[in-house]
Amino acid sequence: MNVFRGIAEFKEWRAKVPQGVSVGFVPTMGALHNGHAALLARSSQESDITILSIFVNPTQFGATEDLSRYPRTIEDDLALARRLRVDAVLLPEVSDVYPDGYSTSVSENVVSEPLCGIFRPGHFEGVATIVLKLFLWVKPNTAYFGLKDAQQFFVVQKVVRDLDLDIKICGVETIREVSGLALSSRNRYLSKNAQELIAPKIFLHLNQLKDAALERQLNEALLADAKNALTKLGFLVQYLEARTLPALGVPSPDDLLSTDLVIAFAGILEGTRLIDNVLVLHRFRKIS
Ligand code: PAF
Repeated sequence: MNVFRGIAEFKEWRAKVPQGVSVGFVPTMGALHNGHAALLARSSQESDITILSIFVNPTQFGATEDLSRYPRTIEDDLALARRLRVDAVLLPEVSDVYPDGYSTSVSENVVSEPLCGIFRPGHFEGVATIVLKLFLWVKPNTAYFGLKDAQQFFVVQKVVRDLDLDIKICGVETIREVSGLALSSRNRYLSKNAQELIAPKIFLHLNQLKDAALERQLNEALLADAKNALTKLGFLVQYLEARTLPALGVPSPDDLLSTDLVIAFAGILEGTRLIDNVLVLHRFRKIS
């Protein structure tokens, strides 16, 4: 496995990958878990070579967020990448990505606005900018994103469409603990009780709302009840909302009954911010 700690060597290597070899790309911030492994496995199945990037991108963290304590487990990450037969790992330095005087960013202004866009101002601009920069270096045919960050997936898909990039954006289903808790690098901050008993209730409620939507019974009152139930369990709920796909618009009461939706949650438990969502696809639509 090739490990590139600087961008110059990576670019040299990438330039030698023959035309016609399909490149799958998994961008990450490290602290890899089975959710990332699923992205890498999918890429290996579908592409001739797989490139992984690990970069904790400072511009997507707000001033009060957890950048400094974001887990960094590089040796374990490289061991996992080796086991999964990743072909190349790109570990850019902050100075590679944002050299002195850097002053360019990419902002998508519709899909980025609601949900996490309200609670994490500037977050999706940071994500869109780093993802575009990585795409320009890696030149993938297909890039893989976890659907746990559904809004991120739809923002990236929109940027790629708007800028007419020839890259397929593939959303990979969320990997969960048996309890239903979505895997996340941040779960390690939760107490055992929160991990095993409280946090799994997010998925329980999301699933109940999804069932209601599929039975064409979803309404604002059911969403409010689920939000209250999670608040009573100790979550500081930031949002629990249904939004239309793929632009994440506000659904009308009719949309709640018949339109493809994401039902998305964000909340803080024991000081740790957790997000999760379920997709409601009425017409056997596949997301990618
Ligand atoms: O999902 C993540 O880990 C990050 O937001 C990403 C896509 C690697 C950009 O920094």
